[in-house]
Amino acid sequence: MYYILRNLELDTPNMKLLITGASGLLGINLALEAMREYQVIGLDRGKLKSAPFQVLKADLLHRNAIDSVLDSAQPDALINCAALANLEECEEYPDRARILNAEIPGELASACAQQNIRFIHLSTDAVFDGTKEGFYTEEDEPNPQGVYAQTKLDGERAVQKANPQAIIARVNFYGWSLTNHRSLGEFFVNNLSEEKYVNGFTDVIFCPMLVNDTARLLLAMLQKNGKNLSGLYHVVGGQAMSKYQFGVEIARKFGLKESHISPKSVEGSGLTAPRSHNLWLSIHKLSTDLGSQIPEFSTGLDEFYTQYQQGYPQKIRGYQQ
Ligand SMILES: NC(=O)c1ccc[n+]([C@@H]2O[C@H](COP(=O)([O-])OP(=O)(O)OC[C@H]3O[C@@H](n4cnc5c(N)ncnc54)[C@H](OP(=O)(O)O)[C@@H]3O)[C@@H](O)[C@H]2O)c1
Repeated sequence: MYYILRNLELDTPNMKLLITGASGLLGINLALEAMREYQVIGLDRGKLKSAPFQVLKADLLHRNAIDSVLDSAQPDALINCAALANLEECEEYPDRARILNAEIPGELASACAQQNIRFIHLSTDAVFDGTKEGFYTEEDEPNPQGVYAQTKLDGERAVQKANPQAIIARVNFYGWSLTNHRSLGEFFVNNLSEEKYVNGFTDVIFCPMLVNDTARLLLAMLQKNGKNLSGLYHVVGGQAMSKYQFGVEIARKFGLKESHISPKSVEGSGLTAPRSHNLWLSIHKLSTDLGSQIPEFSTGLDEFYTQYQQGYPQKIRGYQQ
């Protein structure tokens, strides 16, 4: 039922890293970063046709999928990037959101604990209601708004219960994706490049990080897992800004027209899923436990632009052909 689609010759060390959601925004970029150090196996439902790492085809919603996948891959570590991560789809399909975002993470965490597989699970900054003044730490009480946030919080709790050694990373990132429209960064670049007018929310504050920085941090965390690092971490950018400001920063870097971005409130925007206004998260715990600085927003943005100039978006999109 499950099969390896592709197994290119890689100069890989012995450690095998299984990445679920390998066709997703984080999954594909993480797999490419991890290939430098690990033998990567990406779990995919059928989108990846020519990725430069092993691809294992499976749908996690199928019965016994987790056991079959782990038997087949025999990983030393697993990073779970699979999710129903579209907020509007979660409102529309709450049962699927619950299974993918809450139940499957708990089952993966439990299987990894039993089989001594290091496990990182991805969660979200959106577990907070955004009413706090200032930043949120890992100690702050979540109060999820909407199906996505609630199911992601339930997933965190299921993972913590099943596998206390697991790492849970609350993230927020932008970057180049397989579909070319998964991230907010792509949204601004694509629309402004076509001289279109777009809205930017002035009342949604977040801490964007280039997905490749997120990936490299997750790999650094994985290496310290079982030593001084386990449990819940905020893995976001160090600079809080509004979504409008983020769009302006992108426009300036790419030489596009920032005047085409209208500052707007998220209220009345027509989005069905609720959005928290303040998702400024502290990264103090992460930088302390990793013993290193978290990459600056400006260096991530520089890399996002360099990737664009060097054809990285086309390279990624090519993996699905
Ligand atoms: N993007 C952000 O800024 C952000 C912010 C906060 C948290 N996160 C979290 O970070 C993680 C990764 O997010 P992302 O933006 O990379 O998500 P994404 O681009 O939507 O990718 C989700 C991945 O999950 C896979 N998937 C969905 N249903 C599946 C199933 N039944 N079986 C196997 N795989 C399945 C998808 O496969 P298909 O391609 O086949 O659908 C895709 O590869 C998620 O946990 C998300 O909640 C992301």
